[in-house]
Amino acid sequence: MDEYLIERIEMLDFSSSVNKILTTKYIGRPFIYMDTTESTQDEVARYGLSGASEGLAVGAGYQSRGRGRLDREWLSTKGASILVSVLLRPEEHHVSHIVIMAALALESFVKELDENVPVSIKWPNDILIEGKKVAGILVERIPANNTSDKDVVVLGMGVNLNLDTSKISEISSISTSLYNFTGKQFDLINGYGTLFKNLEIYYEHLKTGTDLLSQWRQKLITLGRTVKITDGEEEFIGFAENVDETGSLIVRRKDGTKFNVIAGDAHLLS
Ligand code: BTN
Repeated sequence: MDEYLIERIEMLDFSSSVNKILTTKYIGRPFIYMDTTESTQDEVARYGLSGASEGLAVGAGYQSRGRGRLDREWLSTKGASILVSVLLRPEEHHVSHIVIMAALALESFVKELDENVPVSIKWPNDILIEGKKVAGILVERIPANNTSDKDVVVLGMGVNLNLDTSKISEISSISTSLYNFTGKQFDLINGYGTLFKNLEIYYEHLKTGTDLLSQWRQKLITLGRTVKITDGEEEFIGFAENVDETGSLIVRRKDGTKFNVIAGDAHLLS
């Protein structure tokens, strides 16, 4: 059989295995799995703009141009990570809380896979194990165009499940994986099913008005610490006091002035 056909069959097999174990009502329905793609974000944006319904998800074994926040690259090796984007059609006032909802869902997902993993959340979107990143979240809003009269939101998540980050020099000092921490291999199919379940639970909480901001605030390891903020051109040191209603980080500088950081990084200094 030619290689292309084998790949197609493997892809369909993977999608149908995930479909079989899905317990969700709409997250991951349908689930489309691609062996390789540039970025699952673009795949889902396309489906979204052509009218697909909320919950559609595209997963990939490998991304040739996987991207993270602030135009960073998101690295993968074949079949080692969860690389997934989910189509959401949130109400306008929920858009800024999608990243909060996803962080809580990812934290709960990691705990469900292994309750002994000391997982934490660092502002704004990093899921860490002992200070190293195990998962990241990218929320992109795609404006309406001539094929769609509504904006769509694409929620992308990368989870280093079996990726051996110690072998990837670009990220070995800042990233880890569940495999690196536990020494165990995790089943990717079960991983997708469990992630979608947690995502639906937390997205339903968001829709029904549960106070996710307070839950997130309590869990953020960033608050109460001295941080170095890098926000585009700007860089400054301050004390991370709180987060506001939209999830921006409120940082007090030495001179007492307060600064709301909307995007950017907060490196923990103490
Ligand atoms: C970050 O931490 O900066 C966000 C990383 C998001 C990576 C995921 S992997 C699936 C989806 N497709 C992408 O190109 N990026 C997101």
